[in-house]
Amino acid sequence: MANPRVDAPRLVTYGVGRFGTAIARLALERGWSVVAAYNRAGPKVGQDLGALLGLDDDLGVVVEDTDRADFSGIDADLGVVTVSDTLTTNLPAYRRLLGAGLDVICLGGEATYPQSVDEALAAEIDDLARAHGVTFTGASVWDAYRIWPVLTLAGACTDLRSLVHTSLTLVDHFGPDAARGVGVGMDGAAFAREGDGNGRSLYCVFMHLVLGALGLDVVEVWERREPVVHDEPVRSAALDRVVEAGESIGTRFIIDVATAEGVTARAELDARLGRPGEVEHMSWTVDGDPPASLRLERRDSLHATAACVINRVRDVMAAPPGLVTVDRLGPMKFSHRGGLP
Ligand SMILES: NC(=O)c1ccc[n+]([C@@H]2O[C@H](COP(=O)([O-])OP(=O)(O)OC[C@H]3O[C@@H](n4cnc5c(N)ncnc54)[C@H](OP(=O)(O)O)[C@@H]3O)[C@@H](O)[C@H]2O)c1
Repeated sequence: MANPRVDAPRLVTYGVGRFGTAIARLALERGWSVVAAYNRAGPKVGQDLGALLGLDDDLGVVVEDTDRADFSGIDADLGVVTVSDTLTTNLPAYRRLLGAGLDVICLGGEATYPQSVDEALAAEIDDLARAHGVTFTGASVWDAYRIWPVLTLAGACTDLRSLVHTSLTLVDHFGPDAARGVGVGMDGAAFAREGDGNGRSLYCVFMHLVLGALGLDVVEVWERREPVVHDEPVRSAALDRVVEAGESIGTRFIIDVATAEGVTARAELDARLGRPGEVEHMSWTVDGDPPASLRLERRDSLHATAACVINRVRDVMAAPPGLVTVDRLGPMKFSHRGGLP
């Protein structure tokens, strides 16, 4: 029997930037509706969402200021939060949307596994979602490309000793802030001063989730960062300049994870400019019985990111109340545009 809620979910978007608009566009293409849109104060507030999506016609959805909007009476199924990677910045959005009885998907990196970042905040999100009978999930591009591939490989093992993960993320198409954030164009002294970052990178979050999802007890996560240099000049479109040989073209994040069970994991993850001919790729090597490895290439990470959110909407709507991480949703499933899984 047709279920309008499942056939055509009604979304709200909280954060009307690059991914908020991309996800809204994909929802509309599937015949779903976007019934409200929120953003912090600024020029987007008061505009029709259709204009911000580049549509010919208005949608009749005017972007509201997050601090002035009334969230109490939203008639929608699920809110998509695309505001920030950090839980603390996103918390007002979670409180407003979960409190209004909406399921929530957050694209922010820390939301992927809040328990690994701040146990008290994770408990607050879980309690709030349960109290309103709704689900909170951090859905990210890591879901399809970093988390599920290794869960499947390790899932075929009868014994497991270690995991090794390597990847290349091309940062240039994420804009100048992303490029600067990983030290593109810095010399050695500047990288030592600024490129080392503060605390752990977001990559620790999904590494922690992978080991937890395998039923292992993570006892320690270490991270260090080093600059990646190239012996030829590389042009950065984001910075609109040539990065000279010897300057940093980005950062290598090196993460080690120890578990109480003795299984170890290492990640060596490059976020940088591409050398000629390079494509984004990821690999996992599982030292277990049986040993196995895989390498995958990703050709369009912007579309992949938005698609990983939209393809989780029905899973999150069907999930039990509370904070539910993507490993509990099963692998992502393709569904034909507008069709049911
Ligand atoms: N985990 C993943 O797979 C993944 C992948 C890509 C991106 N991300 C993360 O997703 C988030 C969104 O990325 P994006 O590229 O879409 O960013 P973006 O283009 O900067 O969009 C963010 C939007 O949120 C608004 N905003 C910022 N802070 C806000 C606040 N406190 N309250 C309400 N609205 C606020 C911004 O308003 P203004 O117009 O005023 O700036 C902007 O419209 C970022 O944190 C990014 O790091 C995660």
